[in-house]
Amino acid sequence: MALTASAIRTAKRVDRFTYAIRNIVAEAKKVEATGKTVRYLNIGDPNQFGFLTPPHLIEAVVKAMRDGHNGYTPSPGIVEAREAVAVDFVSRGVQVSADRVLITSGTSEGIELALTGIVDEGEEVLVPSPTYPLYTAVLAKIGATPSYYRTDHTNHWQPDLDHLRSLITAKTRALVVIDPNNPTGAIYPEAMRRSLIEIAESHGLVILADEVYGDLSYDGPVPPMAALDNDAPIISYSSLSKAYLAPGWRAGWMAVGSSPRLDGALAAIKKLADGRLCSPGPMQFAVTAALTGDRSHQVAFRTQLRERAALTSKRMNAIPGISCVAPQSAFYAMPKVDLPSGSTDADYVLGLLRSKGILCVYGSGFGTAAADGFFRIVFLASPRELDAIYDDVDEFTRAFRSA
Ligand SMILES: Cc1ncc(COP(=O)(O)O)c(C=O)c1O
Repeated sequence: MALTASAIRTAKRVDRFTYAIRNIVAEAKKVEATGKTVRYLNIGDPNQFGFLTPPHLIEAVVKAMRDGHNGYTPSPGIVEAREAVAVDFVSRGVQVSADRVLITSGTSEGIELALTGIVDEGEEVLVPSPTYPLYTAVLAKIGATPSYYRTDHTNHWQPDLDHLRSLITAKTRALVVIDPNNPTGAIYPEAMRRSLIEIAESHGLVILADEVYGDLSYDGPVPPMAALDNDAPIISYSSLSKAYLAPGWRAGWMAVGSSPRLDGALAAIKKLADGRLCSPGPMQFAVTAALTGDRSHQVAFRTQLRERAALTSKRMNAIPGISCVAPQSAFYAMPKVDLPSGSTDADYVLGLLRSKGILCVYGSGFGTAAADGFFRIVFLASPRELDAIYDDVDEFTRAFRSA
Protein backbone atom coordinates (compact mmCIF):
# COMPACT_ATOMS: atom_id res chain seq x y z
CA MET A 1 0.00 0.00 0.00
CA ALA A 2 1.45 3.36 -1.03
CA LEU A 3 1.77 5.83 1.80
CA THR A 4 0.88 9.42 1.08
CA ALA A 5 0.55 12.44 3.31
CA SER A 6 -2.13 14.15 1.27
CA ALA A 7 -5.72 14.17 2.38
CA ILE A 8 -8.44 12.66 0.23
CA ARG A 9 -9.55 15.34 -2.22
CA THR A 10 -13.22 16.31 -2.24
CA ALA A 11 -15.33 17.14 -5.27
CA LYS A 12 -15.44 20.76 -6.40
CA ARG A 13 -19.22 20.64 -6.58
CA VAL A 14 -19.32 20.52 -2.79
CA ASP A 15 -17.76 23.99 -2.66
CA ARG A 16 -20.81 25.32 -4.46
CA PHE A 17 -23.29 23.35 -2.34
CA THR A 18 -24.61 25.30 0.66
CA TYR A 19 -27.57 24.79 2.95
CA ALA A 20 -27.34 27.56 5.51
CA ILE A 21 -30.24 26.30 7.67
CA ARG A 22 -28.09 23.42 8.87
CA ASN A 23 -24.60 24.72 8.03
CA ILE A 24 -25.05 27.43 10.67
CA VAL A 25 -25.56 24.84 13.41
CA ALA A 26 -21.76 24.42 13.58
CA GLU A 27 -21.59 28.00 14.90
CA ALA A 28 -24.29 27.26 17.47
CA LYS A 29 -22.34 24.21 18.70
CA LYS A 30 -19.31 26.42 19.31
CA VAL A 31 -21.46 28.76 21.39
CA GLU A 32 -22.91 25.82 23.33
CA ALA A 33 -19.39 24.56 24.01
CA THR A 34 -18.81 27.76 26.01
CA GLY A 35 -21.64 26.73 28.37
CA LYS A 36 -24.29 29.02 26.90
CA THR A 37 -27.79 27.71 26.12
CA VAL A 38 -28.81 28.05 22.48
CA ARG A 39 -32.43 28.47 21.42
CA TYR A 40 -32.72 26.97 17.95
CA LEU A 41 -35.00 28.98 15.68
CA ASN A 42 -33.28 27.78 12.53
CA ILE A 43 -35.11 24.60 11.50
CA GLY A 44 -38.81 24.28 10.72
CA ASP A 45 -39.41 21.10 12.71
CA PRO A 46 -42.70 21.28 14.64
CA ASN A 47 -41.93 18.10 16.60
CA GLN A 48 -38.97 19.77 18.29
CA PHE A 49 -41.40 22.27 19.79
CA GLY A 50 -43.91 19.78 21.21
CA PHE A 51 -46.27 19.38 18.26
CA LEU A 52 -47.12 15.68 18.00
CA THR A 53 -47.57 13.37 15.03
CA PRO A 54 -51.24 12.30 14.86
CA PRO A 55 -51.59 8.86 16.53
CA HIS A 56 -53.38 7.24 13.58
CA LEU A 57 -50.32 7.90 11.41
CA ILE A 58 -48.04 6.27 13.96
CA GLU A 59 -50.40 3.30 14.19
CA ALA A 60 -50.35 2.90 10.41
CA VAL A 61 -46.54 2.73 10.39
CA VAL A 62 -46.35 0.35 13.35
CA LYS A 63 -49.01 -1.88 11.83
CA ALA A 64 -47.17 -1.92 8.50
CA MET A 65 -43.99 -3.04 10.25
CA ARG A 66 -45.83 -5.68 12.34
CA ASP A 67 -47.60 -6.93 9.22
CA GLY A 68 -44.23 -7.55 7.64
CA HIS A 69 -44.04 -4.62 5.23
CA ASN A 70 -40.35 -4.21 5.83
CA GLY A 71 -39.00 -5.02 2.39
CA TYR A 72 -38.40 -2.78 -0.58
CA THR A 73 -41.50 -1.28 -2.15
CA PRO A 74 -41.94 -0.57 -5.86
CA SER A 75 -39.74 2.44 -6.74
CA PRO A 76 -42.59 4.90 -7.27
CA GLY A 77 -44.21 3.75 -4.00
CA ILE A 78 -46.95 1.41 -2.84
CA VAL A 79 -50.12 1.52 -4.91
CA GLU A 80 -52.36 2.41 -1.91
CA ALA A 81 -50.33 5.55 -1.15
CA ARG A 82 -50.11 6.64 -4.78
CA GLU A 83 -53.84 6.19 -5.13
CA ALA A 84 -54.52 8.15 -1.94
CA VAL A 85 -52.37 11.01 -3.25
CA ALA A 86 -54.14 10.97 -6.62
CA VAL A 87 -57.60 10.93 -4.99
CA ASP A 88 -56.55 13.81 -2.72
CA PHE A 89 -55.35 15.86 -5.71
CA VAL A 90 -58.58 15.15 -7.61
CA SER A 91 -60.59 16.33 -4.57
CA ARG A 92 -58.61 19.58 -4.76
CA GLY A 93 -59.24 20.06 -8.48
CA VAL A 94 -56.13 18.47 -10.00
CA GLN A 95 -56.82 15.69 -12.50
CA VAL A 96 -53.97 13.29 -11.90
CA SER A 97 -53.87 9.51 -11.85
CA ALA A 98 -51.90 7.28 -9.49
CA ASP A 99 -49.46 6.26 -12.23
CA ARG A 100 -48.24 9.90 -12.35
CA VAL A 101 -47.60 9.99 -8.59
CA LEU A 102 -44.35 9.03 -6.88
CA ILE A 103 -43.87 8.55 -3.16
CA THR A 104 -40.57 10.16 -2.21
CA SER A 105 -38.27 10.58 0.78
CA GLY A 106 -39.88 13.91 1.59
CA THR A 107 -40.41 16.73 -0.81
CA SER A 108 -36.64 17.08 -0.76
CA GLU A 109 -36.18 13.93 -2.80
CA GLY A 110 -38.92 15.00 -5.21
CA ILE A 111 -37.10 18.29 -5.79
CA GLU A 112 -33.85 16.46 -6.45
CA LEU A 113 -35.47 13.90 -8.77
CA ALA A 114 -37.29 16.55 -10.81
CA LEU A 115 -34.34 18.91 -11.20
CA THR A 116 -31.99 16.03 -12.02
CA GLY A 117 -34.46 14.56 -14.49
CA ILE A 118 -35.27 17.78 -16.31
CA VAL A 119 -32.40 20.25 -16.11
CA ASP A 120 -29.05 19.77 -17.87
CA GLU A 121 -25.67 21.14 -16.87
CA GLY A 122 -25.35 24.79 -17.91
CA GLU A 123 -29.12 25.38 -17.96
CA GLU A 124 -31.06 27.80 -15.78
CA VAL A 125 -33.95 27.55 -13.34
CA LEU A 126 -36.01 30.46 -12.02
CA VAL A 127 -36.10 30.36 -8.24
CA PRO A 128 -37.59 32.97 -5.94
CA SER A 129 -35.44 35.27 -3.87
CA PRO A 130 -35.57 34.55 -1.02
CA THR A 131 -35.82 30.83 -1.74
CA TYR A 132 -35.88 27.56 0.13
CA PRO A 133 -32.17 26.76 -0.28
CA LEU A 134 -32.42 23.14 -1.38
CA TYR A 135 -33.24 24.34 -4.91
CA THR A 136 -30.00 26.24 -5.31
CA ALA A 137 -28.05 23.50 -3.55
CA VAL A 138 -29.31 20.83 -5.97
CA LEU A 139 -28.73 23.12 -8.95
CA ALA A 140 -25.14 23.57 -7.79
CA LYS A 141 -24.78 19.81 -7.59
CA ILE A 142 -26.05 19.19 -11.12
CA GLY A 143 -24.08 22.09 -12.60
CA ALA A 144 -27.09 24.26 -13.43
CA THR A 145 -27.65 27.89 -12.47
CA PRO A 146 -30.38 29.54 -10.41
CA SER A 147 -31.88 32.76 -11.79
CA TYR A 148 -33.28 34.52 -8.74
CA TYR A 149 -36.54 36.33 -9.36
CA ARG A 150 -37.36 38.98 -6.80
CA THR A 151 -40.23 38.57 -4.39
CA ASP A 152 -40.92 41.97 -2.92
CA HIS A 153 -41.18 42.58 0.82
CA THR A 154 -42.74 45.98 0.16
CA ASN A 155 -45.55 44.15 -1.66
CA HIS A 156 -46.34 41.34 0.82
CA TRP A 157 -43.50 39.26 -0.60
CA GLN A 158 -45.24 38.81 -3.96
CA PRO A 159 -43.16 37.85 -7.04
CA ASP A 160 -41.98 40.77 -9.18
CA LEU A 161 -43.26 39.54 -12.54
CA ASP A 162 -41.34 42.06 -14.67
CA HIS A 163 -38.14 41.02 -13.01
CA LEU A 164 -39.01 37.36 -13.50
CA ARG A 165 -39.72 37.89 -17.22
CA SER A 166 -36.45 39.79 -17.66
CA LEU A 167 -34.46 36.76 -16.47
CA ILE A 168 -35.79 34.25 -18.98
CA THR A 169 -33.25 33.14 -21.58
CA ALA A 170 -33.01 30.34 -24.12
CA LYS A 171 -31.39 28.26 -21.37
CA THR A 172 -34.22 28.61 -18.85
CA ARG A 173 -35.99 25.29 -18.20
CA ALA A 174 -38.15 25.57 -15.11
CA LEU A 175 -39.91 27.95 -12.76
CA VAL A 176 -39.93 27.14 -9.05
CA VAL A 177 -42.98 28.45 -7.18
CA ILE A 178 -43.07 28.04 -3.40
CA ASP A 179 -46.61 28.90 -2.33
CA PRO A 180 -47.27 29.06 0.60
CA ASN A 181 -43.74 30.29 0.98
CA ASN A 182 -40.79 29.41 3.13
CA PRO A 183 -39.03 31.64 4.20
CA THR A 184 -41.50 34.54 3.87
CA GLY A 185 -44.85 33.06 5.00
CA ALA A 186 -46.50 34.62 1.93
CA ILE A 187 -49.34 33.14 -0.08
CA TYR A 188 -50.08 34.21 -3.64
CA PRO A 189 -53.55 35.28 -4.80
CA GLU A 190 -55.12 33.45 -7.74
CA ALA A 191 -54.30 36.26 -10.19
CA MET A 192 -50.60 35.99 -9.33
CA ARG A 193 -50.66 32.22 -9.75
CA ARG A 194 -52.37 32.58 -13.13
CA SER A 195 -49.72 35.10 -14.25
CA LEU A 196 -46.95 32.70 -13.22
CA ILE A 197 -48.58 29.90 -15.23
CA GLU A 198 -49.00 32.22 -18.22
CA ILE A 199 -45.34 33.25 -18.15
CA ALA A 200 -44.20 29.64 -17.83
CA GLU A 201 -46.49 28.56 -20.67
CA SER A 202 -45.36 31.30 -23.01
CA HIS A 203 -41.72 30.22 -22.57
CA GLY A 204 -42.20 26.45 -22.50
CA LEU A 205 -41.12 26.14 -18.86
CA VAL A 206 -42.16 23.43 -16.44
CA ILE A 207 -43.46 24.71 -13.09
CA LEU A 208 -42.20 23.05 -9.93
CA ALA A 209 -44.97 23.82 -7.45
CA ASP A 210 -43.70 23.35 -3.90
CA GLU A 211 -46.82 23.01 -1.76
CA VAL A 212 -45.39 21.62 1.45
CA TYR A 213 -47.29 24.31 3.41
CA GLY A 214 -50.48 24.10 1.33
CA ASP A 215 -52.58 23.05 4.34
CA LEU A 216 -50.93 25.52 6.71
CA SER A 217 -52.32 28.81 5.49
CA TYR A 218 -54.00 30.36 8.55
CA ASP A 219 -57.27 30.79 6.65
CA GLY A 220 -57.38 27.12 5.62
CA PRO A 221 -55.89 24.96 2.86
CA VAL A 222 -54.69 26.70 -0.30
CA PRO A 223 -55.65 24.85 -3.51
CA PRO A 224 -52.78 23.33 -5.48
CA MET A 225 -51.53 25.58 -8.28
CA ALA A 226 -52.21 22.85 -10.85
CA ALA A 227 -55.95 23.13 -10.09
CA LEU A 228 -55.93 26.42 -12.03
CA ASP A 229 -54.84 24.78 -15.26
CA ASN A 230 -54.77 21.01 -15.61
CA ASP A 231 -53.15 21.28 -19.06
CA ALA A 232 -50.13 23.28 -17.90
CA PRO A 233 -46.92 21.33 -17.24
CA ILE A 234 -46.86 21.49 -13.46
CA ILE A 235 -45.16 19.10 -11.04
CA SER A 236 -46.64 19.42 -7.56
CA TYR A 237 -45.00 18.35 -4.31
CA SER A 238 -45.91 17.91 -0.70
CA SER A 239 -45.16 15.65 2.25
CA LEU A 240 -46.07 14.49 5.73
CA SER A 241 -43.34 16.68 7.19
CA LYS A 242 -45.17 19.87 8.07
CA ALA A 243 -48.94 19.57 7.77
CA TYR A 244 -48.89 16.05 9.23
CA LEU A 245 -46.16 16.71 11.78
CA ALA A 246 -43.81 13.89 10.79
CA PRO A 247 -40.69 15.47 9.27
CA GLY A 248 -38.33 12.72 10.41
CA TRP A 249 -40.20 10.05 8.53
CA ARG A 250 -39.06 11.37 5.17
CA ALA A 251 -42.38 10.65 3.54
CA GLY A 252 -43.56 12.82 0.68
CA TRP A 253 -45.00 12.71 -2.79
CA MET A 254 -44.88 14.34 -6.17
CA ALA A 255 -47.58 14.45 -8.83
CA VAL A 256 -46.45 14.92 -12.39
CA GLY A 257 -49.32 16.81 -14.03
CA SER A 258 -51.50 15.16 -16.63
CA SER A 259 -50.21 17.22 -19.58
CA PRO A 260 -48.73 14.83 -22.17
CA ARG A 261 -45.89 17.33 -22.43
CA LEU A 262 -44.73 15.90 -19.10
CA ASP A 263 -44.68 12.26 -20.24
CA GLY A 264 -40.94 12.35 -20.94
CA ALA A 265 -40.24 14.05 -17.61
CA LEU A 266 -42.32 11.43 -15.79
CA ALA A 267 -40.35 8.63 -17.48
CA ALA A 268 -37.04 10.33 -16.61
CA ILE A 269 -38.04 10.82 -12.98
CA LYS A 270 -39.20 7.20 -12.67
CA LYS A 271 -35.94 6.01 -14.21
CA LEU A 272 -33.96 7.98 -11.63
CA ALA A 273 -36.26 6.78 -8.84
CA ASP A 274 -35.49 3.15 -9.77
CA GLY A 275 -31.85 3.81 -8.86
CA ARG A 276 -32.65 4.74 -5.27
CA LEU A 277 -34.89 1.64 -4.94
CA CYS A 278 -37.70 3.19 -2.90
CA SER A 279 -38.53 5.66 -0.15
CA PRO A 280 -38.91 4.27 3.41
CA GLY A 281 -41.55 1.54 3.12
CA PRO A 282 -43.51 1.53 6.40
CA MET A 283 -43.91 5.32 6.26
CA GLN A 284 -45.65 5.02 2.92
CA PHE A 285 -48.56 3.41 4.78
CA ALA A 286 -48.90 6.62 6.79
CA VAL A 287 -49.43 8.58 3.56
CA THR A 288 -52.63 6.62 2.99
CA ALA A 289 -53.66 7.08 6.63
CA ALA A 290 -52.96 10.82 6.47
CA LEU A 291 -54.79 11.55 3.26
CA THR A 292 -57.82 9.37 3.96
CA GLY A 293 -58.09 9.91 7.74
CA ASP A 294 -58.84 12.58 10.31
CA ARG A 295 -57.12 15.94 9.72
CA SER A 296 -58.52 17.82 12.70
CA HIS A 297 -55.00 18.34 14.11
CA GLN A 298 -54.47 20.82 11.26
CA VAL A 299 -57.23 23.09 12.54
CA ALA A 300 -55.58 23.37 15.95
CA PHE A 301 -52.13 23.74 14.41
CA ARG A 302 -53.22 26.58 12.13
CA THR A 303 -54.78 28.43 15.09
CA GLN A 304 -51.55 28.13 17.06
CA LEU A 305 -49.51 29.28 14.08
CA ARG A 306 -51.73 32.28 13.47
CA GLU A 307 -51.24 33.40 17.09
CA ARG A 308 -47.46 33.02 16.90
CA ALA A 309 -47.30 34.80 13.53
CA ALA A 310 -49.23 37.77 14.90
CA LEU A 311 -47.01 37.91 17.98
CA THR A 312 -43.88 37.70 15.85
CA SER A 313 -44.78 40.50 13.46
CA LYS A 314 -46.04 42.70 16.31
CA ARG A 315 -42.89 42.26 18.37
CA MET A 316 -40.52 42.57 15.40
CA ASN A 317 -42.16 45.74 14.08
CA ALA A 318 -41.88 47.30 17.55
CA ILE A 319 -38.08 47.00 17.50
CA PRO A 320 -36.41 50.17 16.18
CA GLY A 321 -34.69 49.35 12.87
CA ILE A 322 -36.65 46.15 12.18
CA SER A 323 -39.61 45.74 9.86
CA CYS A 324 -41.49 42.51 9.29
CA VAL A 325 -44.19 41.51 6.82
CA ALA A 326 -46.91 39.57 8.66
CA PRO A 327 -46.82 35.90 7.58
CA GLN A 328 -50.05 34.40 6.18
CA SER A 329 -49.01 30.75 6.45
CA ALA A 330 -46.57 28.25 7.94
CA PHE A 331 -44.14 29.06 10.76
CA TYR A 332 -41.58 31.42 9.30
CA ALA A 333 -41.09 35.17 9.29
CA MET A 334 -38.45 37.09 7.35
CA PRO A 335 -37.83 40.40 9.16
CA LYS A 336 -35.44 43.03 7.82
CA VAL A 337 -33.02 44.88 10.04
CA ASP A 338 -31.46 48.15 8.91
CA LEU A 339 -27.81 47.29 9.23
CA PRO A 340 -25.06 49.77 10.06
CA SER A 341 -23.14 50.37 6.84
CA GLY A 342 -20.48 47.80 6.11
CA SER A 343 -22.10 45.04 8.15
CA THR A 344 -23.93 41.99 6.80
CA ASP A 345 -26.92 39.85 7.70
CA ALA A 346 -24.48 37.14 8.86
CA ASP A 347 -22.76 39.63 11.23
CA TYR A 348 -26.14 40.38 12.76
CA VAL A 349 -27.27 36.75 13.04
CA LEU A 350 -23.96 35.52 14.41
CA GLY A 351 -23.88 38.45 16.84
CA LEU A 352 -27.36 37.51 18.06
CA LEU A 353 -26.23 33.90 18.47
CA ARG A 354 -23.06 34.74 20.38
CA SER A 355 -24.58 37.43 22.54
CA LYS A 356 -28.03 35.97 23.32
CA GLY A 357 -27.84 32.32 22.27
CA ILE A 358 -30.60 32.75 19.69
CA LEU A 359 -30.07 30.95 16.39
CA CYS A 360 -31.81 32.36 13.29
CA VAL A 361 -30.65 32.07 9.69
CA TYR A 362 -29.27 35.02 7.68
CA GLY A 363 -31.22 36.03 4.57
CA SER A 364 -28.24 35.49 2.28
CA GLY A 365 -28.65 31.77 3.09
CA PHE A 366 -31.92 32.07 1.15
CA GLY A 367 -30.49 34.20 -1.66
CA THR A 368 -31.10 37.79 -0.51
CA ALA A 369 -28.25 40.34 -0.56
CA ALA A 370 -26.14 40.24 2.61
CA ALA A 371 -26.39 44.02 3.04
CA ASP A 372 -30.20 43.93 2.92
CA GLY A 373 -30.38 42.65 6.48
CA PHE A 374 -33.00 39.93 6.18
CA PHE A 375 -33.07 37.04 8.63
CA ARG A 376 -35.47 34.15 9.09
CA ILE A 377 -37.19 33.25 12.33
CA VAL A 378 -38.91 29.91 12.94
CA PHE A 379 -41.70 30.80 15.38
CA LEU A 380 -42.78 27.35 16.60
CA ALA A 381 -41.82 27.95 20.25
CA SER A 382 -44.62 28.77 22.71
CA PRO A 383 -45.84 32.38 22.77
CA ARG A 384 -44.29 32.77 26.24
CA GLU A 385 -40.91 31.55 25.03
CA LEU A 386 -41.18 33.68 21.91
CA ASP A 387 -41.89 36.76 24.02
CA ALA A 388 -38.74 36.15 26.04
CA ILE A 389 -36.73 35.50 22.87
CA TYR A 390 -38.04 38.69 21.25
CA ASP A 391 -37.06 40.70 24.37
CA ASP A 392 -33.52 39.50 23.76
CA VAL A 393 -33.69 40.23 20.02
CA ASP A 394 -34.84 43.76 20.89
CA GLU A 395 -32.01 44.34 23.35
CA PHE A 396 -29.39 42.91 21.00
CA THR A 397 -30.64 44.86 17.97
CA ARG A 398 -30.51 48.20 19.78
CA ALA A 399 -26.94 47.48 20.87
CA PHE A 400 -25.86 46.18 17.45
CA ARG A 401 -27.23 49.17 15.58
CA SER A 402 -25.71 51.72 17.94
CA ALA A 403 -22.27 50.10 18.13
C1 LIG B 1 -40.43 25.05 0.86
C2 LIG B 1 -39.93 23.72 1.31
N1 LIG B 1 -39.82 22.73 0.42
C3 LIG B 1 -39.37 21.52 0.78
C4 LIG B 1 -38.99 21.25 2.06
C5 LIG B 1 -38.48 19.88 2.41
O1 LIG B 1 -39.47 19.19 3.06
P1 LIG B 1 -39.49 17.60 3.25
O2 LIG B 1 -39.33 17.38 4.71
O3 LIG B 1 -40.84 17.22 2.74
O4 LIG B 1 -38.40 17.04 2.46
C6 LIG B 1 -39.07 22.24 3.05
C7 LIG B 1 -38.63 21.99 4.42
O5 LIG B 1 -38.50 22.86 5.24
C8 LIG B 1 -39.57 23.51 2.65
O6 LIG B 1 -39.67 24.49 3.53
